[in-house]
Amino acid sequence: MAEQLQQLILDTLDTQSTLQDSRALKIPGQSSPASSHDAQITILGALNSLLSREMITYETHEVSSHVLTPEGVQIVREGSHEARVWAALPERGGAPLSAQDLKRAVGDEAAKVGQGRAFKSGWIAKEGNGFVKAVSNITDTTHTELRELESSGTLVAGEKALAELRKRKLIIQRKGQWFTVHKGANFSTSIAKPETDLTVDMLTSGSWKKSTFKKYNFDADGIPTSGGALHPILKVREEIRSIFLEMGFEEMPTGTFVESGFWCFDALFVPQLHPARELQDTFYLSDPSTSLPPPSDYYERVAHVHEHGGYDSIGYRTPWSHEESHKLLLRTHTTASSAAMLYKLAAKCRGEDIDGDLSAKSQPGAANLSDDGFRPAKLFSIDRVFRNETMDATHLAEFHQVEGVVADRNLTLADLIGFMRTFFRKMGMKNLRFKPAYNPYTEPSLEIFAWHPLLEKWVEIGNSGMFRPEMLAPMGFPPDVRVHGWGIGLERPTMIRYGVSNIRTLVGHKTSIENVENSPAVMF
Ligand code: PHE
Repeated sequence: MAEQLQQLILDTLDTQSTLQDSRALKIPGQSSPASSHDAQITILGALNSLLSREMITYETHEVSSHVLTPEGVQIVREGSHEARVWAALPERGGAPLSAQDLKRAVGDEAAKVGQGRAFKSGWIAKEGNGFVKAVSNITDTTHTELRELESSGTLVAGEKALAELRKRKLIIQRKGQWFTVHKGANFSTSIAKPETDLTVDMLTSGSWKKSTFKKYNFDADGIPTSGGALHPILKVREEIRSIFLEMGFEEMPTGTFVESGFWCFDALFVPQLHPARELQDTFYLSDPSTSLPPPSDYYERVAHVHEHGGYDSIGYRTPWSHEESHKLLLRTHTTASSAAMLYKLAAKCRGEDIDGDLSAKSQPGAANLSDDGFRPAKLFSIDRVFRNETMDATHLAEFHQVEGVVADRNLTLADLIGFMRTFFRKMGMKNLRFKPAYNPYTEPSLEIFAWHPLLEKWVEIGNSGMFRPEMLAPMGFPPDVRVHGWGIGLERPTMIRYGVSNIRTLVGHKTSIENVENSPAVMF
């Protein structure tokens, strides 16, 4: 087809030397009129192909034309709404037609629009509860104009009438083009298919000297280059990370996907018989299956507070199991890393010499003898955790936790709540509710709910609390030091943000790489 059209253009030029108006071409095998928009687009393709071989040149002319909307087409067939209303009514003196009967006669839409217009033109009048004709004949200009447009593409009445019909959405304007075509430098009536590649054969045989080569089209769009793209979850992670950083938080190292039962649970005062530690909730490692021993003094203190209590606590009073504590597992929460960081933060309070820096206590003549070595800290992490979950649309066996921890003297629950309000406001959640909850390592504990403006409901977004003395005291923190923390998931805000209802379209083998590459950045 394309070649036939090109041939037709060349043959026409051969006899006429210039093709004045491309709308006069009858495209082979196409039924729509040559003046139509689609036909001219097809012709443009053929012209560009011939132009690239310099067989022709052409000029473009812009035109604007009008086409009827479906409503416009209906009016050409049946008359304008107002004319149909008028026609349905009896002459004056006859029994008036009620509004309901009028609707029945011409349809709801025509009755609604037509009644108003017919009144305005003085075609109809109200009589009692119904309508009658006010004049005995009418001129349906809308109908005649649309008919004229449909057959000739223009209106003698001019732009004002066209504008009115456009406003009534009976016609729409279409910009179009047509072309004047001339012979080009390489004009010929036979289309030799140009070579697209210079081959070894052409070089050895010398046939390249007589070949015509297709010109490079430097205006063609290139193939989009594919580069790396952040996964939506990582985009949300970056945004949350920047919130923590602007609030003065420091990022914790969280590379330890594998932890011991000690750091994941015992250090956090999670009882050794706690259900979360069971096989159906936690993934344990079989090889290697046990961890290196934790720092011995600290280990002793933790074992003691579990078994016998201390620091004003009665403990759990159940036998301590070394085996349970030494088990290796995939961490079930990033609070395992928080615990390790807090233990490190308390090093100076324990009088330990870290990084070659003498602790305040052991330094002779240290400026402040009452300095117990404690320094306040604001820490955060965003990383992966693992749970032996039954997977469904909203649960996976591995996901990400966002966690913030603040350590300072005499912190209160109000400080925790205040902090979370500021933090979540920055994430776009202004309306928060807190519900008392239970965690083995925090008291009090609070579940966090946020009013979600997109979902228009309260959604549980996280968990928080004040870390227990049974956890902090064995680390060596002075008694006036309080630590509070909160944790949220990363997947849920991501799913809400990107309107994803099934986690498996976001994570795993069903994820579309294209979606990942095209998903927009997030700003809370
Ligand atoms: N570790 C808790 C969880 O997995 C979150 C949390 C962190 C709670 C810190 C209190 C303090 O849900």
